[in-house]
Order: sequence, then structure tokens, then C-alpha cells
Amino acid sequence: MKIAVINGTEKHGITYQLKEMFLNPFRETAEITEYYLPKDCPSFCMGCLNCTLRGEHTCKDAARVQKIAASLLDADLIVMTSPAYVFHVTGAMKTLLDHFAYLWIPHRPAPEMFAKRAVIITQCLGAGGESAAKDIKHSLAWWGISDIKLFTGKLMSDVVWDRLTEKKRFELTKKITALSEKCIRIDYTKPARTSPITKLKFLICRMMQKSLHEKDPEYLDGKYWANQGWLGTARPWKSR
Ligand SMILES: Cc1cc2nc3c(=O)[nH]c(=O)nc-3n(C[C@H](O)[C@H](O)[C@H](O)COP(=O)(O)O)c2cc1C
Repeated sequence: MKIAVINGTEKHGITYQLKEMFLNPFRETAEITEYYLPKDCPSFCMGCLNCTLRGEHTCKDAARVQKIAASLLDADLIVMTSPAYVFHVTGAMKTLLDHFAYLWIPHRPAPEMFAKRAVIITQCLGAGGESAAKDIKHSLAWWGISDIKLFTGKLMSDVVWDRLTEKKRFELTKKITALSEKCIRIDYTKPARTSPITKLKFLICRMMQKSLHEKDPEYLDGKYWANQGWLGTARPWKSR
């Protein structure tokens, strides 16, 4: 199986420790590709809208973004991590998520995403881990992924792994190991189930794309939906 990991920080801190613990049981069997932010996608989205209006390859950062996109599309499991910074993901992670606006269901979702599974790992000192996880979940869900598992941790004492109390280290280790064991038992040859809410979001966007495509057959998103057969009877969760 293949795992694509996006690390929302380059720091080898607690987020990194937890992510390593999550990946350890997979190391023997999985092909793991990791990206570290901001190193692997350092430039901000400038808001030109080229990705949505003219195609993702016209983005000034297409080389870096499309390399990451290819790994995500190829993966059976996507792992995204971030510490909480002021209750949200790191700026570096937000920058990457902005670059993937074109992949949202209202634009040009990739059919592969509807079959994928994802894990989000966040942690914080006291509060904000849940909202940081939600930042990532919001994007992944709108890319079409239904099976998204969350790990959120609260340190409550120190910010260095070795200085955490033994009880806290045990608690975090137990929780991330349990998630990892749950994920390793999954049969990744079978696609994830697409949830009713994802299907509903898709069908609402389909109505919009149908009308846009009728008004302007050259409009990129509408043309993409038509080419996928989605304006007819084809559905991304059926094409497996
Ligand atoms: C800019 C910045 C903002 C932060 N904001 C929060 C926050 O809103 N809530 C919180 O509990 N911790 C906050 N923290 C603390 C980190 O989430 C915490 O230290 C975390 O363990 C860092 O993870 P790391 O070791 O992987 O870098 C913040 C840290 C930084 C650097």
C-alpha cells in the first residue's frame, strides 16, 4: 500500500513524534512518501484563480503543488499533520490547502479522492487542536474523502516530549498506537465508502455545473464534469 504524508511543520517536535509512532507499524509493508511544509511548498497562493479558471498546471507553483497532488492521488492513505498555531493549522499547511482550491467538489474534484482514507494528526499545548484538525478535515471532506480519522492531543504541561510527564507520554502513545492499529487492519484494496453527505454535496454541485456548462460549454469546471460523465449518470464513487 502507499501512504502520502504532509507534515504541516518541518520541526521534529511532538507532532513529528506522534506521526512517527503512527507510521511505525506501516514501515515494513507500506511505501511512504513524505512532504514537509513549508520546505516542499513554500509559496503563498496569490489569488490569481488560474488554477480554477485556466487549469491547475497554470499555477505559478504548479511544479511543487502537482508533485504533492500526484502523491496524494496515488496514495491509499493520506496522513496530514499540524500543531495548533493560534487555534488553527500552521500557516504553511494553510498555504498548501489554498493551492488545492481547484480540487474542491464545486470545482474539479479528483474521482480517486472519493475512494480514499485519511488520518489527521494535530496536537496543542492546551486548546486549539480540534479546530486545527477541523481546518484540514474541511478541505479533505470537500476534496471528496469520506473516511477521515482524527487524532488530537493536548500536552497541558510542557512542549518537549522528554519533559512531558510519564502519564501524559503514556496517554498520547496509547491513543496514537490505537489509531495506528485500527488503520493497519483496514483492507486498502477495497475503496472507502462514500458517505451520504459527500454524495449530497456532489449532487448539489452537479446541478450548478450542469447549468454553468449549458450556459458556457467552454467553462473549465463544467467541461471537466461533462468529460467525467458526471453531468450524465456516472458518479465518482461508482467508477471503481
Ligand atoms: C505560533 C504558535 C501558536 C500557538 N498557538 C497555540 C494555541 O492556539 N493553542 C495551544 O494550545 N498551543 C499553541 N501553541 C503551542 C503548540 O501548539 C505546541 O507547543 C505544540 O506542541 C507544538 O508542536 P510541535 O512540537 O510539533 O512544534 C502555539 C505555538 C506557536 C509556535
